[in-house]
Amino acid sequence: MTTQMLTRAPHLRGSIDVPGDKSISHRAVLFNALADGEAHVTGFLTGADCLSSVACAQALGATVTRDGTTLRIVGRSLRGLREANDVLDCGNSGTTLRLLAGILAGQPGLFSVLTGDASLRSRPQKRIVLPLRALGAQIDGRDGGDRAPLAIRGTELRDGHYRLPIASAQVKSALLLAALCAGARLTLDGRTDGRDHTERMLAAMGVPISVDGPTITLAPTTPGFPRALSLAVPGDPSSAAFWWVAAAIHPNAEITTRAVCLNPTRTGALDALRLMGADITVTNERTEGSEPVGDVTVRSSQLRGATIGGPIIPRLIDEIPVLAVAAACASGDTVFRDAAELRAKETDRIATVVAGLSAMGVPVEGTNDGMGISGVQELRGAALDSHDDHRLAMAWAVAGSVAAGETQIARADAVDVSYPSFWSTLAALRG
Ligand code: S3P
Repeated sequence: MTTQMLTRAPHLRGSIDVPGDKSISHRAVLFNALADGEAHVTGFLTGADCLSSVACAQALGATVTRDGTTLRIVGRSLRGLREANDVLDCGNSGTTLRLLAGILAGQPGLFSVLTGDASLRSRPQKRIVLPLRALGAQIDGRDGGDRAPLAIRGTELRDGHYRLPIASAQVKSALLLAALCAGARLTLDGRTDGRDHTERMLAAMGVPISVDGPTITLAPTTPGFPRALSLAVPGDPSSAAFWWVAAAIHPNAEITTRAVCLNPTRTGALDALRLMGADITVTNERTEGSEPVGDVTVRSSQLRGATIGGPIIPRLIDEIPVLAVAAACASGDTVFRDAAELRAKETDRIATVVAGLSAMGVPVEGTNDGMGISGVQELRGAALDSHDDHRLAMAWAVAGSVAAGETQIARADAVDVSYPSFWSTLAALRG
């Protein structure tokens, strides 16, 4: 376990590339493993979560070779995966486990067991298990199928229609991938407003998928598809958000994050920070592959509290820990609501954020579906814990960079899950 010590940064200045987007990196390796042909992926995120997807794809017979952030993937086509000869370890990665559960449910003849670390094994899986079973999937796990390890016997699946009760891209993707592999027709509606990287990438691979408002329809794919897709992974807005908040709350700061994914399903943190009065400029907007990209500059700002709830929540769900730090440094009160999903993340992020901000002297109260935070003049340095949650480790680093006195962050190496170079980038921005 590593502990990081931090004091207030004299300034935070620089122009940086953030690591590749985590959601897109997972999909690039898993979907290309199902493709016909060879793909080259640049800017791949080498965090532990995405390396779990690489290892699982290899265990299932795909050829994946990596040179730094460049991957070469030779797919096995939709039905060509090989039965893994051991359990598939998804580490800390919910995306790996849930997307693979969909893929493997639709692979007749393959038996698979998916597991992960203590955090992943404590997270709810009925959200995918129940709708997959409704399509005919043979899938079981602890707690009646709600917790990993999950055991999956791949089988033919039937056509289906499912109304998503929660805005989860992992649930949406698990179902689409199951139907894709099984050659079934699937219609999804309801809360389909989670991130849409799966829909974009499958369409770019030639899969017949259409989106009409909230309704997503996937038709059986013709032989030869999905075709291999080479792509450059854009920067991760969920990683960039740490620097956006750091720049906004620090009195002597200007940070540019270059080539960040600006997919509208991912830019809620920018909208929330604008609502709070942050000084933000977006330049160089362009489209790369199937995703919009741009450079984002944030400067020192006077933030004010805001109410953040409703449809914006899925667009910033992973950024709430660091937005809570922004709220703690804003004038007035901030309320996060409609965010009960925070309790199902790598940690219960309502409980862990409330504990950390309280230790820093911030009046904060957890609710069923969010929290209320009263901004303070100055954060107080404190002994904090990431609880092995990568986004908490980084949110506390941002807080410690403006706090009075010393901040200690226990289990600081949790950043390796999504941002292995986080600590060196912070050191560079502090000069
Ligand atoms: C992700 C979807 C989101 C997000 C997670 C990555 C994805 O989870 O929080 O970090 O890549 O599909 P949910 O699907 O549980 O909302």
